[in-house]
Amino acid sequence: MAEPKENVLMEKIVSLCKRRGFIYQSSEIYGGINGFWDYGPLGAELKRNVKDLWWRAMVHTREDVVGLGATIIMAAQNGKASGKFDTFADLMRECPLTKKRVRADQVETQGGTVFRYTGARSPTTGWAVEKAFAVLEPKGERHDPARKKARQFYALGLLDKALGSADTLELLGETISKVTSSTDFHPESGVEMTEPRPFNLMFKTYVGPVADEENVAYLRPETAQAIFAQFKNVLETSRQKVPFGIAQTGKAFRNEVTPRNYTFLSREFEQMELEFFIKPDEAVEAICGRVASVAEVSAANIQHPASNIQHPMPRPEWGWEAWHTYWVEERIRFYESIGLPRATLEEYWQKPDELAHYARATVDILFKFPFGTQELEGIAARSDFDLSQHERFSGKQMGVFDEDLRIAWGKLEEAQRQKLWQRYYDARHRYLTKLGVAAEQAAKEAKEDADGLAKGQYIPHVIEPSAGVDRLILALIANAYTEDQAPDEKGKMETRVVMKFHPRVAPIKVAVFPLLRNKPDLVKKAREVRDLLLPHMTVFYDDAGAIGRRYRRQDEAGTPFGLTIDFETLGEAGPELKDTVTLRDRDTMQQTRVKIGELVTLLLSKVR
Ligand code: GAP
Repeated sequence: MAEPKENVLMEKIVSLCKRRGFIYQSSEIYGGINGFWDYGPLGAELKRNVKDLWWRAMVHTREDVVGLGATIIMAAQNGKASGKFDTFADLMRECPLTKKRVRADQVETQGGTVFRYTGARSPTTGWAVEKAFAVLEPKGERHDPARKKARQFYALGLLDKALGSADTLELLGETISKVTSSTDFHPESGVEMTEPRPFNLMFKTYVGPVADEENVAYLRPETAQAIFAQFKNVLETSRQKVPFGIAQTGKAFRNEVTPRNYTFLSREFEQMELEFFIKPDEAVEAICGRVASVAEVSAANIQHPASNIQHPMPRPEWGWEAWHTYWVEERIRFYESIGLPRATLEEYWQKPDELAHYARATVDILFKFPFGTQELEGIAARSDFDLSQHERFSGKQMGVFDEDLRIAWGKLEEAQRQKLWQRYYDARHRYLTKLGVAAEQAAKEAKEDADGLAKGQYIPHVIEPSAGVDRLILALIANAYTEDQAPDEKGKMETRVVMKFHPRVAPIKVAVFPLLRNKPDLVKKAREVRDLLLPHMTVFYDDAGAIGRRYRRQDEAGTPFGLTIDFETLGEAGPELKDTVTLRDRDTMQQTRVKIGELVTLLLSKVR
């Protein structure tokens, strides 16, 4: 099997996605809009399957996870509480001429001649503007016309375009100097950039008719925050008890500075996030007498009720490390179950200096994309930071009362109580101090929290598996793309493009072909077969062209099964083959005969 070279592979994937209706550029007829992508008929099905399978694995087949469907626009305070105004703010520098921004820490050094001016004047009108600006002409490009134009256009911009043409403008107060390694000039225009300023990646809008600061709202940059904000409502209405999780899928928006690698880094994308709330380790230890080691997680495998895979059975003595390990493993199993082999994935454990200040551990699950091994999902142990922050900013209690803890605490020996009280106090004190709470106040609040623990109260900690739908779609497409050799109608070998999607995610599960379209009996039977399958799965009926061509079209769409209704089906080759069809396997191209009456059961066992 031929393996296309990596960048060539990406080009082939992009071309196939457009040609077959997986992914189109958003607003393409108007020249496109960078960082935004639309999903065509096949892409939309693929995406829907992926989200449904995630929901099934994370919510429907578990007793300890419930779902949420929250709004995209949330009160601005959510951003402040979550720290997203800081997280999603990069230091950027802007070219005052083109308004293009670059990340302050990503500008390469340049050397050359710097032309500085104090302003510009229009000789035709006599109008002048005083405003200093500078343009770098890189070494060896003393009379670079583009840079000269930049100087002229800058001046034109200063004077207002109505005042004269760029060629006739006069630049005032020229001084010329040399630089050897400067990061102050924009890499494209050469114009001296503004000082670094935080640039918020969140999309801003206004709620209601008045566009003022009071009415500012943001499109959510992650689906997670609504889960924290609704934590108490869900807890009270779902009859769940910690440990339990809240899952949500939906759109997220980030005004990425340089969207790239096709859909990998987009400005509008979808996430599938779980916030799994757990007891703090001190509560686990008080109740169970110990906190389980990570090694115990994999030792506790049991048969999962909804799959034939062995999963660990969660245990009451699991602390954050065990739960974190558990979720990393669960997520990798999920990827395997939809056709991404473990060998295409990597676990990256963030180093202590890469972790967010509140995170205890974060594992990125990476996929070997054609453009490099990059993040598909992050699984973070986020301590009790998120709920604590929302409690501080909203003034609403986010803690829970745990009767098991209250009873267990009462039975602890004094030394054990002291030890757990102190550990909880220290953790809360660290959190408060990092927020900048004054020492005395931090000590007071941490003491209240530790006293609360002794009465059965705490703010739950959280493990957050957070996956991107679009990245997963791209990973599935890249993983599925295959070329092999197959004979054409005349027996000549030709390159066959096959999207080898796992049947679970394949956009179309089965294609139904009458051998000939001009034989009413074949067509009638084929339609009957289609109608038999339609209530159970996505079916594509195709009677146009030679059968080999029809197979190829479905191979490119990634349809795992093809059914051909031929004269044997009608009983013309004898009664034993009557009401049987040819079932063709996309990957092996092998054909077997199957009774129509057995099709639904057989196919469902493969596509579910
Ligand atoms: N609540 C945690 C959070 O949002 P993140 O690492 O920023 O964490 C989680 O995002 C996942 O969302 C990523 O692993 C990725 O799959 C997806 N994602 C993030 N930014 C994206 C973007 N600009 N385009 C496409 N997917 C993105």
